[in-house]
Amino acid sequence: MKALGILAMAAFVAVACTPEAPDVGGTGDAVRGKEVAAIAGGCGCHTPENGPVGAGGVEIETPFGVFYSTNITSDSTAGIGDWSDAEIEGALRRGVLRDGSVEAPVMPYPLYGGMADEDVRDLIAWLRRLPASATKNRLHEVSLPLPRLAFWGWRTLFAPTVAAPAKAPASGVERGEYLVHRVAICGDCHTPRNAFGVSDASNYLAGVNDGPIGKVPNITPDPATGVGEWDEADMISLLQDGMQPDLDNVQGKMGDVVDGVAGGPGYFEARDSDLKAIAEYLKTVPAISHRVAD
Ligand code: HEC
Repeated sequence: MKALGILAMAAFVAVACTPEAPDVGGTGDAVRGKEVAAIAGGCGCHTPENGPVGAGGVEIETPFGVFYSTNITSDSTAGIGDWSDAEIEGALRRGVLRDGSVEAPVMPYPLYGGMADEDVRDLIAWLRRLPASATKNRLHEVSLPLPRLAFWGWRTLFAPTVAAPAKAPASGVERGEYLVHRVAICGDCHTPRNAFGVSDASNYLAGVNDGPIGKVPNITPDPATGVGEWDEADMISLLQDGMQPDLDNVQGKMGDVVDGVAGGPGYFEARDSDLKAIAEYLKTVPAISHRVAD
């Protein structure tokens, strides 16, 4: 209850501090936007198993209740077809919805907050071309009292505003770091969370034993418990076709982000140079010994 009190207090502070929307304006390049979407795992949490792409309604279980992803297609009633670019940008990078309320943090806006302006513009251009689906959004089944207040409070406490670059780094480890942190958001699944649902930075990418999506492997370069024995080519091949060095295929949520859901984009379509940059960066993160049981 004490925690909720803090959240509620923080919520009032947050109302006063909601930042103004930066102008990402203008029209982006939808072809480049699809490449951004590919590295973002096709925004696959928004696509039901049998499609259509972006129609929403996918159940996301968390310790705080069951959330349903929303319709992000171009339908002007059920989707985001009549949202302005600034409104879409606000939801993506700052977690603010059109009516000023704050999104549930199951939407990883604190990570996308650092997505480059250019990538956001292009991603929006791609989203605008998603065929309209009339699937209606479902209400979340949140197990917190005053959820809107709680989400505001959460953002104030745990999602400080991050500066986003105008353009993403062009190549090398820097680009890999940007893609892993801000677009592919590997840590959203591979990093454990604390009791508030906040990623535990000291265990970055060290894997999860009993999270809402089950077991997620340690992908730090620890040779015994992580992927330290993998070379860059092994990592690139896994991201391209889901094949592990022992010739097993990744399943579940990892399969979804690699292959895309229901024909949507996935890592498999990303540029080879981007997958290489990701593999290079992953070699540089601290190795953490943490065993995820089979
Ligand atoms: C939506 C959640 C999610 C995201 C995002 C995600 N992963 Fe995964 N990943 C998983 C899950 C779950 C598994 C386990 C799959 C299985 O058991 O077959 C996995 C497996 C893996 C494996 C296999 C490890 C092993 O020991 O076999 C690697 C490597 C990996 N992911 C790398 C990445 C990288 C790199 C990114 C970002 C570019 C990423 N993942 C993003 C959920 C995710």
